[in-house]
Parts: sequence; structure tokens; C-alpha cells
Amino acid sequence: MSNNIDGKVVVITGASSGLGAAAARHLSSLGATVVLAARRADRIQALAHELNSSGGHALPITTDLARFDQVKRLADVVLATYGSIDVLINNAGLMPLSPLDRLKIDDWDRMIDVNIKGVLYGIAAVLPTMQKQKSGHIINVSSVAGHKVRPGSTVYSATKTAVRVISEGLRQEVKPYNIRTTVISPGAVDTELSDSVTETDVAENVKKFYAELAVPADSFARAVAFAIGQPENIDINEILYRPTRQEY
Ligand SMILES: NC(=O)c1ccc[n+]([C@@H]2O[C@H](COP(=O)([O-])OP(=O)(O)OC[C@H]3O[C@@H](n4cnc5c(N)ncnc54)[C@H](OP(=O)(O)O)[C@@H]3O)[C@@H](O)[C@H]2O)c1
Repeated sequence: MSNNIDGKVVVITGASSGLGAAAARHLSSLGATVVLAARRADRIQALAHELNSSGGHALPITTDLARFDQVKRLADVVLATYGSIDVLINNAGLMPLSPLDRLKIDDWDRMIDVNIKGVLYGIAAVLPTMQKQKSGHIINVSSVAGHKVRPGSTVYSATKTAVRVISEGLRQEVKPYNIRTTVISPGAVDTELSDSVTETDVAENVKKFYAELAVPADSFARAVAFAIGQPENIDINEILYRPTRQEY
């Protein structure tokens, strides 16, 4: 029986670490062709080598999600190489948390550029192809922080709330094109995300919180596989999960 993943061309942004790399490994093991996009070329090349050496199909494409020309190029190369784009996982993101009165304008700009504009750029790069194909699946990564705001998470939570709103609007707009849309909101998962916190005291607290309860990144990979693996007439629109011990 088909797992509805085998043979699909899946583009994963932020595939150089954390959730994106875990999703790439899992989907590759289930037969998907995975396209690995991120800025750190050495990381995605090493991951592609690992997956290709074990019988998978992986293509690394160095991409800065904050640049639409690069995201468009990513989609163009995938289309030219494989002839279709079946799934886009809009996963790249960063979380430099801090209270607003620290005035970390650069951090705000980077979060808006990658967490919101990067997601929109990804959608823009694949939507015409998926509309033409009359098939496709766009998976956006929000967060528990897209459902809740706390002191220090204001801008990050705003970006992740935006991802949920974009996903719901997209869901409604692509109905005529047989395109599926999923938004996944993880709680604390053990990745490199806390390294993106630029304020030392905040970073210390975030790392302590993660060390106490974060779950492995394969939790995300299984959620992604669940959404993609459904029969084509079933559209898993939202998944929110947390470590069992996470109260927030
Ligand atoms: N871990 C968690 O607890 C958690 C919870 C909820 C939601 N999330 C979300 O999950 C997503 C993945 O994060 P993660 O936890 O896996 O963290 P991570 O290990 O730090 O991975 C972040 C990924 O985003 C990529 N990225 C950042 N800026 C980029 C840019 N300008 N262009 C291209 N790629 C860029 C990074 O690649 P390069 O640096 O190589 O470019 C990296 O691959 C994020 O959207 C995050 O907000 C994570």
C-alpha cells in the first residue's frame, strides 16, 4: 500500500538543522525526494551526502529565505530538475526573544524577514506551479508561541501568529486547485533554535527551559509525515503538539 510520501518531491526550508533536518531524514527514509534549502551550504551538502549514501534522493540548494530572488531560484531549480513540486515545508525561522524595551530592532527585522516574509516568498515561489499541477501541499511552521504570547516573546509570537493567519487564508484560497495546507505548531523541541537568542540573560533562561523539557526533533518529522501521508482527499490543516510536561 502506498504511504503517499514515496516518490514525492518535498522542498524543506531550514533543512540545515533541527526540525528541517529531522523531517528530511524521516521523509527520505519513507521514499521522498528531499530538496534541502538553507544558508549553510556545508550542512545541507553533508546531509544530502548522508541521505544519498543510504539510498535516498536529496538535493542541497543554498538559499537565503530573506531574498525572494533566491527563493524563486530554489523553486525554478527544483522544477527544472524534477518536473514537479509536491510539498513545500516552510520551516526556516529564528527566535531571538527579548522584551520590547531592549529595542532589538535588528532582531525584529530578521524575524519578520525570515519567519513571515520567508514563508510568503516560499508560497509565492511554488503556488503558480501547484495551481498548474492542480495538486500540492504547503506546510507552514508556526509554534505554540503563535497561539500564546508572553513577556519577551512579543515579536516572535507576532510572526508565528502571522504564519497561522497566512496558512488559514491560503487554505481557503487554494481550495479550487486541490492544494493541501497544514500549519504545524510545536512546543519546545530540542534544536539549535535557542542559539538565535541574542540577549545573554534571555538565552540562559531559554536554554534552561529547553534543557528541562524539550522533546527530540523526530516528533516534528512524524507530524509532517502524518500530514503528507494522508490520502489526497484528506487535508490535515492544523497540528499543535507539546512535550507532555510543557504547561505554557
Ligand atoms: N525548536 C522549537 O522548540 C520550535 C518550536 C516551535 C516552532 N519552531 C519553529 O521551527 C522552525 C525550525 O526551527 P528549529 O527549531 O529547527 O531551529 P534551528 O535548529 O535553529 O533551525 C533553523 C533553521 O532555519 C534556517 N534559517 C534561518 N534563517 C534563514 C535564512 N535567512 N534563510 C534560510 N534558512 C534560514 C537555518 O538554516 P541556516 O542558518 O543554515 O540558513 C536552520 O536550518 C522555526 O520556524 C522555528 O520558529 C521551533
